[in-house]
Amino acid sequence: MHSETVAGFHQEDSVPSGLVPVGIIYGDVGTTAFKCNITGHIEQTDYVQMRHEKVGWVLGQVDTINRKTDLSLEKAQELAEGREMDIKELVFATINVIGYRDERGLLQVPRTPFKAGETVYRASEDLIRDVIGLKDDPEKGAYIGLLNGHNIRVYLDINTIVQKHMSVLAKTGAGKSYITGVIIEEMMKHGVTLLIIDPHGEYPSMKNEGNATDSRFGVSPRSYADRMMVFSPDTNINPDARPLRFTLGNMEARDILALTNIKNAKTYMVALRKALDYLRAVKPQYGIEDIIAVLEADEEHALGTLINELEYLKEMNLFAPQGTKISEIVQPGKTTIINLKGTPPDIQQLIVSRIATALFELRKIGKIPPMMMVVEEAHNYCPQQGQVMSSKIMRTIASEGRKFGLGMAIISQRPAKIDKNVLSQCNTQLILKVTNPNDIKAVVASVEGLTSGMADLIQHIPLGVAIVTGGGISMPLFVEVRPRETKHGGESVKVI
Ligand SMILES: Nc1ncnc2c1ncn2[C@@H]1O[C@H](COP(=O)(O)OP(=O)(O)O)[C@@H](O)[C@H]1O
Ligand SMILES: [Mg+2]
Repeated sequence: MHSETVAGFHQEDSVPSGLVPVGIIYGDVGTTAFKCNITGHIEQTDYVQMRHEKVGWVLGQVDTINRKTDLSLEKAQELAEGREMDIKELVFATINVIGYRDERGLLQVPRTPFKAGETVYRASEDLIRDVIGLKDDPEKGAYIGLLNGHNIRVYLDINTIVQKHMSVLAKTGAGKSYITGVIIEEMMKHGVTLLIIDPHGEYPSMKNEGNATDSRFGVSPRSYADRMMVFSPDTNINPDARPLRFTLGNMEARDILALTNIKNAKTYMVALRKALDYLRAVKPQYGIEDIIAVLEADEEHALGTLINELEYLKEMNLFAPQGTKISEIVQPGKTTIINLKGTPPDIQQLIVSRIATALFELRKIGKIPPMMMVVEEAHNYCPQQGQVMSSKIMRTIASEGRKFGLGMAIISQRPAKIDKNVLSQCNTQLILKVTNPNDIKAVVASVEGLTSGMADLIQHIPLGVAIVTGGGISMPLFVEVRPRETKHGGESVKVI
């Protein structure tokens, strides 16, 4: 097996020029991990390479670094008091073996351990690209940034993102909306149809050019105004948006009551149903004011509370005799922002539920193009605890959307508070800084291939760096997020 490589390896004793030694393998050596005494400059998550007697060069990654000293606490105190002393120390790293490509191009891990005493080198970019499988692929790939510490572009497979769902998880201010904007830019560039649920009105700014200046990334400012549409239920707060209205005629008494603060819906169910039946018989297109008029005429029941609630809904201006058509909202190759800034949470959930249901049903019968729905603050629309109006459809899309070409991107600062059934369906994951212990647990549980060293790092990830998995990449990568082409609209303050 593999005779050429082995022969080639034995003949060639010298190390290719340019490789920088950073350590030596020592101690007990396993096939998937080993210790390395550090002699050069190397940091956590850096890539290294070492020679294996059977297979040649193998890629590894620094998982943890430790400094072991013989300095006792007492001695440390003496040292602090100014006494000189000799300290023995050893700086060592745990290296995880990533593997090598065999002659068929498959990722393999050597089945025998490395030899203790072998030199560990900083990995060459060619080996990193080859083993991780990073190709510059502007045709099918979404360019999200550079492999941290290297000049290697990372592309995620667009089809995989769309078809197998994506999650973006991190604490507030860690850069979720920023990196989501990067993904959206890439989707727009590739003609993907998108709908963005935007509770804070952060995304309309993508119509404007940003001011990218960092030349390492090769990104120039760009506007996508020609591909974007904005709708909002509240065009007073969001005057640049087109009005989003729903057809009242599609709402049953139960749906309407669910939008009110009325706890005991049964009290009013019969009266409301009767009013709707009556209106349907006499007036094909009715508004909330019509329902109110019918209820006011009802002398049998005390309906004051219901009428007050309906007055409130009327003020929301959410319903119209003729609602916005889905064909207006979703257009092939375009990005639609549903700007929910200023809309109360229960109404937001209703809107998400209505739109998501329409997308799912219309996708099933091919009436709209394959597309992706981006949901910011997803914990509000599919919480782990309790049921909100949009819970069910979010779960359905998570589990069945991919069959029908309806992808979902879930964005949240509270991974622990999102429905696990939804989160676990997201195959592409972008993780930024997370500090809440429950959230770290939720993230670690949902990310495949995360090493213990990486899990510890999650709470220290600097702004602008993301851990990326899936999307056609077989192992978690640290990626320096590329600058935005468009203007970032996030208003959240920097917390890092
Ligand atoms: N990759 C990045 N490069 C430069 N600035 C960033 C990056 N990511 C985030 N920021 C900045 O950090 C702030 C918070 O980012 P944002 O995406 O709004 O956070 P979140 O959505 O997680 O609350 C913003 O001011 C944004 O401009
Ligand atoms: Mg945000």
